[in-house]
Amino acid sequence: MADIRNNFIGIKSPNPFWLASAPPTDKEYNVRRAFEAGWGGVVWKTLGEEGPPVVNVNGPRYGAIFGGDRRLLGLNNIELITDRDLHVNLREMKQVKRDYPDRALIASIMVPCVEEAWRKILPLVEDTGADGIELNFGCPHGMSERGMGAAVGQVPEYIEMVARWCKSYTRMPVIVKLTPNITDIRYPAKAAMDGGADAVSLINTINSIISVNLDNFSPEPSIDGKGSHGGYCGAAVKPIALNMVAEIARDPQTANLPISGIGGVVTWRDAAEFMALGAGNVQVCTAAMTYGFKIVEDMITGLSSWMDESGHATLEDFRGKAVPNVSDWQYLNLNYIAKAVIDQEKCIKCGRCHIACEDTSHQAITANSNGERRFEVINEECVGCNLCVSVCPVEECITMVAQEPGTIDERTGKPVNPDYANWTQHPNNPSRRAAE
Ligand SMILES: Cc1cc2nc3c(=O)[nH]c(=O)nc-3n(C[C@H](O)[C@H](O)[C@H](O)COP(=O)(O)O)c2cc1C
Ligand code: SF4
Ligand code: SF4
Repeated sequence: MADIRNNFIGIKSPNPFWLASAPPTDKEYNVRRAFEAGWGGVVWKTLGEEGPPVVNVNGPRYGAIFGGDRRLLGLNNIELITDRDLHVNLREMKQVKRDYPDRALIASIMVPCVEEAWRKILPLVEDTGADGIELNFGCPHGMSERGMGAAVGQVPEYIEMVARWCKSYTRMPVIVKLTPNITDIRYPAKAAMDGGADAVSLINTINSIISVNLDNFSPEPSIDGKGSHGGYCGAAVKPIALNMVAEIARDPQTANLPISGIGGVVTWRDAAEFMALGAGNVQVCTAAMTYGFKIVEDMITGLSSWMDESGHATLEDFRGKAVPNVSDWQYLNLNYIAKAVIDQEKCIKCGRCHIACEDTSHQAITANSNGERRFEVINEECVGCNLCVSVCPVEECITMVAQEPGTIDERTGKPVNPDYANWTQHPNNPSRRAAE
């Protein structure tokens, strides 16, 4: 049986599934139930300064994007950090940590970007017995207009400065949570590292307006006819998060910086993908808000079964395995040739592949053959783009098959070259020609 115990920067948890800082972790009642359901750790809903807590809107704070089956694909929110008193949160955190010593409990913090504010809150948090802190430099709405959250996360110098303060005022491990609302994620990651942070976590939510009400022309969620931009998350953001995790993991400067992967984790498979790209563990928010705490059971059994089947005894056995395979485009092998193949047994003759290829791709799929409705790939035209696979409603009905080296590519009439050759070596590359 695979061992899925997790050790992230010295913080141990029975599995790599943590709940991200958000409504699921906003109070003791939730966190106790989450731990009973099996979550390995939680990042408590972001704590603010001592004094009157922030105030949330009293109307809708979420908007959503759905798939055709009304499955929630993306969630948008205009919620702020915790609107509960700091000392109530701290007391509850202490009680929960005392009762669940084997689970990870991380305190997320967002206070003004002044040294005194951080110096003041850190001992209070440390006193709860929390295993670490996460600096919320990511929230893109509400708090950022007050000079916190993403307003800090978008300035690498501030990230470095605050991380350094935290490292000097606490012995707890420091995780810096990064905002994706930035051009190049490697800069804030490097800044966190330079400030002495033990790890980064990413992504926080993406700046967004999810929809506009066409009756009253208000962006949604609508508060008395007005809407503001919010933070986008859920399954739809996973590709953006994966890319950002990979960028940090494959940059030689940050390659050894531990990463907690966040953004669109819904299944064990999503988690395994984040870890294959270098993440040490994952955090989950929207999936828990959509399906409840018990989804962690599927995540645990799914990950364990896959690890058993693939011969991975521990998480470290596959962590980072995909990182060397993330390449810049110009190094992809241009001599690799694949073509679509349709399994006629599985084909339900819906015609979607034909329409897609005919109208927008390479006119490489028939609709008729010998007077019969039949969908076949025309090898002489197929460039192997994969669009038909993406639109076919039947799983594995169309597959991409690599052409054997030495066989003739019917499109070009040339044999498939067995050697690797990329754009930097290609005769059409203007920079190569200039160098000659
Ligand atoms: C309603 C809501 C509130 C959130 N509040 C916080 C917060 O207080 N602190 C924080 O660091 N992230 C907050 N987040 C961001 C999540 O922790 C997480 O980074 C993001 O939702 C991406 O993960 P997901 O795709 O699994 O939801 C919030 C997200 C949602 C949906
Ligand atoms: S892979 Fe692209 S070009 Fe080939 S049949 Fe499919 S859609 Fe057409
Ligand atoms: S999209 Fe798939 S199922 Fe539909 S006709 Fe094409 S191959 Fe057949």
